[in-house]
Amino acid sequence: MEDYSSIQILSLFLLFLSPLLLLKWFLSSQTNKNKINPPPSPRKIPIIGHLHCFAKDPHRSLLSLSRRHGPIMLLHLGSSPAVVISSAAAAKEIMKTHDLIFSNRPVFKVNRKLLYDLKDVSVSPYGEYWRQLKSICVLQLLSNHKVKSFRSVREEEVLLMIEKIEESRGKNIQVNLSEMFSKLANDIVCRASFGRKYDEGEKGMRFRRLLTEFLVVLGTVNAGDFMPWLSWINKLNGWDNRVDRVAKEMDDFLEEVVEDKMNQRKFEEIVDEDHDERKDDFVDILLRIHMSQETGVSIDRDSVKAIILDIFSAGTDTTSTILEWAMTELLRHPNAMKELQNEVRKVANGKSIVTEDDIENMSYLKAVIKETLRYHTPIPLLVPREATQDVKVMGYDIAAGTIVFINGWAIGRDPVSWDDPEEFKPDRFLNSSIDYRGRDFELIPFGAGRRGCPGISFGIATNELALANIVNKFNWELPNRMKGEDLDVDECIGVTIHRKNPLIALAM
Ligand code: HEM
Repeated sequence: MEDYSSIQILSLFLLFLSPLLLLKWFLSSQTNKNKINPPPSPRKIPIIGHLHCFAKDPHRSLLSLSRRHGPIMLLHLGSSPAVVISSAAAAKEIMKTHDLIFSNRPVFKVNRKLLYDLKDVSVSPYGEYWRQLKSICVLQLLSNHKVKSFRSVREEEVLLMIEKIEESRGKNIQVNLSEMFSKLANDIVCRASFGRKYDEGEKGMRFRRLLTEFLVVLGTVNAGDFMPWLSWINKLNGWDNRVDRVAKEMDDFLEEVVEDKMNQRKFEEIVDEDHDERKDDFVDILLRIHMSQETGVSIDRDSVKAIILDIFSAGTDTTSTILEWAMTELLRHPNAMKELQNEVRKVANGKSIVTEDDIENMSYLKAVIKETLRYHTPIPLLVPREATQDVKVMGYDIAAGTIVFINGWAIGRDPVSWDDPEEFKPDRFLNSSIDYRGRDFELIPFGAGRRGCPGISFGIATNELALANIVNKFNWELPNRMKGEDLDVDECIGVTIHRKNPLIALAM
């Protein structure tokens, strides 16, 4: 009797318990369904999170982390979540599958101050204003047609560089190629933007010094952006004052340029009714849009100055860096140099100056530029994006507001996509359709998708013409009988990765 009642009690107990167990199982399976699945994340340091990974050579430290944690990693920059992408497949998900969601840029304080409260193209938030500006860039400033119209500017400036090098030829005088390439890129962008150079005299010196400082300040990672409670340090150590001073000096300079142009336009409109728009430089075009609102686009004076600053910051350093690294690798790889010279000299057929028509037939030249972009991606982490809403990427949850860094340099060295990725081998591109324009995600030095670089043709035209001419006209050697393989490849710190030491060579 006693036994019977205890079994009865147990059965009754189970009878009541089972729905409760079932309910618990159901609820837990539901919560599992809603459970967030973040990307793998390396161990972080209290308070700063993973900010230390960005202090020096972030492209390298992030690549070694990704080899342990995978092609999509979650980091914390102070209190801000950030995702790092290190494979072509993951980059494709960001810049193609979910391109719209990742078309925003994170806002940094220095960008607000230097770029007229984000009135430029490259850091302006995704939206109608950015769309209008991007279409001005793509259709009016940097279209293939417009890039071609600057052909004589490029040819004249390359010729000036060649003449300058000629003065040192065969005299054992060292040529600072880094400086030459930097001046060339600046002068071409200056003439395309303002219709003239600012390279001489007091004003020219002031502009060059200012531009260098502007790029340094713009490219500095500021801990205060990620740990707002640390912002006071920037007041104390003079950083905020420096940013304000650079912004003010740059604005004073650009105001003078715009004012000169406005006066010139008034004069031209009076005296020249048949004004030839094909000869317009970037400031002319932007002022026309500003004053006429012809395309239904309204841009104010600050927008004009911000876009010009974008063109200088995005288009000068990047272009000269490619030339610097291409020549470095050619000097380190005499066989590649020989092959390039044979091709260029064959096409040039005895001419001392190569023109843009000749370039079309130079497939090895194009392969050298591609390999340089893969091997020394000028902006290794591209320009950061930001997620505008929660989204799943490769099965992982990424929250709205997460910053996204795409390690284009690491993707260019991924053994999944490339044979011998650590070797400089231009030949790999000779029978390959892979291009850098944003369709092949294993090679994305210019980014891809909506926020992709609009200046590819402008930049590449300068690179191809300059490289073809300096190897056509001269043979090159390193000073002090240094062998190519001993030439260093040390990198500087910054957004655009230059050589740490200037490239010095002898022209023969
Ligand atoms: C020649 C070497 C260059 C390289 C390696 C380069 C690289 C890049 C990269 C990686 C981005 C970000 C793309 C993304 O987020 O997907 C970008 C954006 C941009 N680039 Fe370039 N660039 C170069 C030349 C130029 C030139 C010559 C100009 C203008 C004259 C230019 C203007 C811009 C602008 C305005 C953006 C912002 C686009 C946006 O946010 O919508 N770039 N570039």
